[in-house]
Amino acid sequence: MRIIVIGGSGRTGILIVEKLVAAGHSVVATIRNPKRMAETVKRGAETIVLDLDKSPLSDFTATMKGADAVVFAAGSAAGESSALDRIGTRRTVHAAENAGVKRYLSISAIGASTGLSTRSMDDEMKDYYKQKRAAAKFITGSSLDWTILEPGELTDGGGTGKVLLSQQAINEESVPRGDVAAVTLALLEEPKTAGKVFQLTRGTQTIAAALKAALS
Ligand SMILES: NC(=O)c1ccc[n+]([C@@H]2O[C@H](COP(=O)([O-])OP(=O)(O)OC[C@H]3O[C@@H](n4cnc5c(N)ncnc54)[C@H](OP(=O)(O)O)[C@@H]3O)[C@@H](O)[C@H]2O)c1
Repeated sequence: MRIIVIGGSGRTGILIVEKLVAAGHSVVATIRNPKRMAETVKRGAETIVLDLDKSPLSDFTATMKGADAVVFAAGSAAGESSALDRIGTRRTVHAAENAGVKRYLSISAIGASTGLSTRSMDDEMKDYYKQKRAAAKFITGSSLDWTILEPGELTDGGGTGKVLLSQQAINEESVPRGDVAAVTLALLEEPKTAGKVFQLTRGTQTIAAALKAALS
């Protein structure tokens, strides 16, 4: 598949790029900061500088033309407005529809779709969940074959290959970014995951077994 990774130079995005290239996919990484280009090129991705706030929608559409799938792995950094999660999602969903790309996978946050209460969270996290929930409305209301992955707190480093994946609410636990990348690949390669939202944390099952269980 030809796959566009939005936020391809992020800490999860770069691992997704690596996994997709290693699996034989043709990958286009979109990045915001041109200084990060060497990292994505070194990993075998075509790389394009696109800012989710500032670049014209037509640039996103042109980048996505001829692609099979889009992965949204961008996100606001600490201290940045979480509006990026909503606005960036809306713009990339529209661009994918305009470009005729059918498959769209987005990385959201644990519990965003399962009613996790944000009452005890600080204002930044409350807003983050509000934006992720608004983003999900654009995705699920689109004409795309979408999948949403809702991981727990992300930790750095390669994955363990052992996860818990579920379409139901699960306990909040962390998950290494390497495992998020490996699960992203598995979800993209399984058409039955379209139209579904998955919770992900560290766990005890292999990714193949966890996906089979989550789909059964
Ligand atoms: N952190 C967590 O614990 C956690 C938990 C659950 C889910 N998530 C979600 O998982 C995803 C990946 O998180 P992460 O922590 O691995 O991400 P990250 O390392 O913070 O990377 C985020 C990426 O988004 C890009 N970005 C930010 N603003 C942009 C803009 N206006 N235009 C284009 N690109 C922009 C950044 O580009 P630059 O490098 O150029 O700034 C960076 O590459 C996010 O969607 C996040 O919300 C995170």
